[in-house]
Amino acid sequence: MHEKETFRDYLDRLRAAGQLLDIREPVDSRHIATLVDQSDKALAFHRVIGYDMPVVSGLIRSSERVAIGLGVEKYADIEQKLTKGIADPIPPVYVEQSSTREVTRYGDDVDLFDLPIPMSSVLDGGPMITGGITIVRDGQGGLNAGIYRYLLKEKNLTGIDIVTPNNLRALAHKAFLEKRPLPISISIGTHPFEFMAAGYRAPMGVDEIDIAGGLRGAPTRLSMCETIDVPYLADAEMVLEAEILPTGWTWPEGRFGEFTQLMGGLHWNPLVRVKAISHRRDPIYYNLHMPWEVAWLMIPTRWSQLRGALKAAGIQVKDINVTLGGNGSWHVIVSIRKQAGEGKNALMAVLSVGDIKHAVVVDDDIDVYDPLDVEWAIATRVQGDRDVFIVPGARAKPLDPSLPVMPAGVVPTGAKVGIDATIPEGIPRERYERIRYAYSDTVKLGSYKLDESAVKAADRKPRAGEVEELAARILDLIGPKPLYYAEVIDAFPGYPLQSITRAFGKLHVDEKLWQDPEGRMCVRGSVFAAKVPGGR
Ligand SMILES: Cc1cc2nc3c(=O)[nH]c(=O)nc-3n(C[C@H](O)[C@H](O)[C@H](O)COP(=O)(O)O)c2cc1C
Repeated sequence: MHEKETFRDYLDRLRAAGQLLDIREPVDSRHIATLVDQSDKALAFHRVIGYDMPVVSGLIRSSERVAIGLGVEKYADIEQKLTKGIADPIPPVYVEQSSTREVTRYGDDVDLFDLPIPMSSVLDGGPMITGGITIVRDGQGGLNAGIYRYLLKEKNLTGIDIVTPNNLRALAHKAFLEKRPLPISISIGTHPFEFMAAGYRAPMGVDEIDIAGGLRGAPTRLSMCETIDVPYLADAEMVLEAEILPTGWTWPEGRFGEFTQLMGGLHWNPLVRVKAISHRRDPIYYNLHMPWEVAWLMIPTRWSQLRGALKAAGIQVKDINVTLGGNGSWHVIVSIRKQAGEGKNALMAVLSVGDIKHAVVVDDDIDVYDPLDVEWAIATRVQGDRDVFIVPGARAKPLDPSLPVMPAGVVPTGAKVGIDATIPEGIPRERYERIRYAYSDTVKLGSYKLDESAVKAADRKPRAGEVEELAARILDLIGPKPLYYAEVIDAFPGYPLQSITRAFGKLHVDEKLWQDPEGRMCVRGSVFAAKVPGGR
């Protein structure tokens, strides 16, 4: 598919799939966020009152639309594609010609207030650029890419939300200590290949742009900024050439509507000076809608990290569900084919992944996508003192509202919780035999009809002597091999059920009947017979 696909090609494919709705009526940009929230499609607003460019939003606000973006049939297929992209990265190519450069403004002529940035939540601190890919040099000869929010403060000055301990924050902190600005490019209106790679938390020194190439199956096209020595995405709708100023985390910013579905508090962040803005002659402004566009983008990146950690731990994994209720980041349910003790090993592996806060590990008979099934596993397989463990003082997300309040700039630590909901070791298997209804494989409600002759044969009372005869035959049957009640009944087709149950009754009266430890019928006093608890 579309190795060279651009942002615009992606919009066209969304449109063709009926996943992007064009709105040509005039729209007040203050209304955009709520309109997107109410829509089951992405929206393209062609006439935004008072601005010269259209706005698209909600593009990756559903699993289908992310799958379309990455050229896979279904959302779950992204894991394999991303894993391959990470394993076989492709370095970018640098191009001279970039349509992003059709119009450029520098310095004092930069005016971010020209951008139709929609208002989002009623508590937001102002207009916020939400959907840009930031590229920075990592100081070791490579590039680092990520997605961060920029709140507009002046026509060429913004904040940048880097309260989370990520790579950009580390680079910005180093630059701050050295009292120098940190040059960054911010590309807006980019393809999901690059977006997904930028959202992936690659360790420092691993280039997310190379991973984007791996995802594409072709090099990502970069071009050099003019005013700073950093590249940008050459097919973006627009690029801001900027510097994170060495102000430290001293400027109030926010509030923001976060990926947690909550309003974040007031943050303290550095300032960003925009030195130049370039865009196409007819740019489209992309506004990423919080919080679901983040969640749907983040989930596959977590799959890849978790799969890697579990692989390193030697665990055989069936399924991984990073849940939406955990904001696509903090909760995971993993099903495994367990060997003794691996419930705990699997938990240690998944909890080692940065953002995972709560993890549940289940056996492979549990459907990780069915909350009822998972809860049932927790209800029936867990002893709290043995199977729940808590690791205090681990890396936490500062955006976790349940953490204690910390002084500005201090990154808090938090607790990780693992629940081993696999069948415990040393427990007899029959404790975990699920109810299976007799004849469920053959008897179907929709087509239930008995054979006339079978009905006739069975629709009678026991004949004289029949119960005694059956009792003797049952005894012969279960003498050498204990059988379940249903198996005994099946051994006597053509007899009315009542004759068989009465035969069992007779064997009981005659003190011939007993059961083995698994509950099968056997002969009383035989070697198979279960012993009376505490008896001799
Ligand atoms: C849509 C979106 C918005 C995001 N906004 C922010 C943000 O404002 N601040 C932040 O620190 N991380 C944000 N993130 C998460 C980072 O982009 C992500 O963790 C990335 O991997 C960090 O890269 P880095 O470790 O290379 O800096 C956002 C992610 C997405 C997908």
